[in-house]
Amino acid sequence: MIDLRSDTVTRPTPGMRAAIAAAVVGDEQMREDPTVNELQERVAELLGQERALFLPTATMANQIALKLHGRPGDVLVAEQHSHILIYEFGGAAVHAGLLTVGLPGTAGRLTPSQVRDAAATAEDVVDQRPAVLVVENTHNVAGGRVWPLDDLEDVVAAARAGGLGVHMDGARLMNAAVALGVPAAAIGSHVDTVTLCLSKGLGCPLGAILAGPADLMEVAWRQKFLFGGAMRQAGMIAAAALYALDHHVDRLAVDHERARRLAAAWHAAGIPVELDRVETNFVQIDTSLLDLPRPQVLAALREAGVGLSPTFGPTHIRAVTHLDLDDADIERALEIVSEALGAHARA
Ligand SMILES: Cc1ncc(COP(=O)(O)O)c(C=O)c1O
Repeated sequence: MIDLRSDTVTRPTPGMRAAIAAAVVGDEQMREDPTVNELQERVAELLGQERALFLPTATMANQIALKLHGRPGDVLVAEQHSHILIYEFGGAAVHAGLLTVGLPGTAGRLTPSQVRDAAATAEDVVDQRPAVLVVENTHNVAGGRVWPLDDLEDVVAAARAGGLGVHMDGARLMNAAVALGVPAAAIGSHVDTVTLCLSKGLGCPLGAILAGPADLMEVAWRQKFLFGGAMRQAGMIAAAALYALDHHVDRLAVDHERARRLAAAWHAAGIPVELDRVETNFVQIDTSLLDLPRPQVLAALREAGVGLSPTFGPTHIRAVTHLDLDDADIERALEIVSEALGAHARA
């Protein structure tokens, strides 16, 4: 099967496996793993932050960030389809005790006035403390959409004026940086804390980073223990991340170009794809505009040899390009999906 379900399906390349095998390691809990330490220093600089902390997953990074920003009963504001609200099992309430205010976004983005109003409502109307705004970049459910830098600056300014800290769920921040053609720090330095995932487009088997100010990261270090995320010879995995930073960042542009190629071909075949929404490595298809229900669409594609996946909500499916695909896979996926679904587009 040509697996376009997610960019998390990648397996370590031979080069990455060699880097893992050669890793110099120590006890991470004693802060003595040189490879972890090197990764943390490198990613802090990459993201324009003072310090970075290596963690097993981006979910843990996001959850720790929420605990840094808020106390039980405080308010978290986020776009309503953010990963942090819908895919993290209510962790914001469970771990940090936060009240969540989910607001409808456009392309996964909130406007400054939405953020201002949410902060004011929490504070003035119900006497709650607005604690944190989460922005997701790229936004998964919206289809890998990117925050333009001006919009990001404006929303961060509104959040700060309203007394909110800002956390960026930048699981796919490197995709955003490559799409905008800017250094990652030009994005990451705008926010107080930022998550970066290593196991998506960057192709590592696992791992994530939380970065932010040194004092907050020292608190995060203790939270890492509390969450059970403090590891031992974790340099085995950090070595994969260092390898990925050297070899798998610039090539994200290839994933983006392939997503655009798929989208253009499927659109030409009459499949409901909105071309101007393809900004990074996701292509979404609206199955409500096909004459087959979503489960049958996915089953038919799988039968024909291409895996796509459902995305949040009742109708959309997505194709996600990644490191484990080559041009021949893209050409075949382009033909197979066009053939399987082209005839099912509603007039
Ligand atoms: C936007 C976003 N944030 C966070 C995560 C969580 O990543 P992990 O699986 O490493 O916990 C994901 C995973 O898909 C994601 O898409």
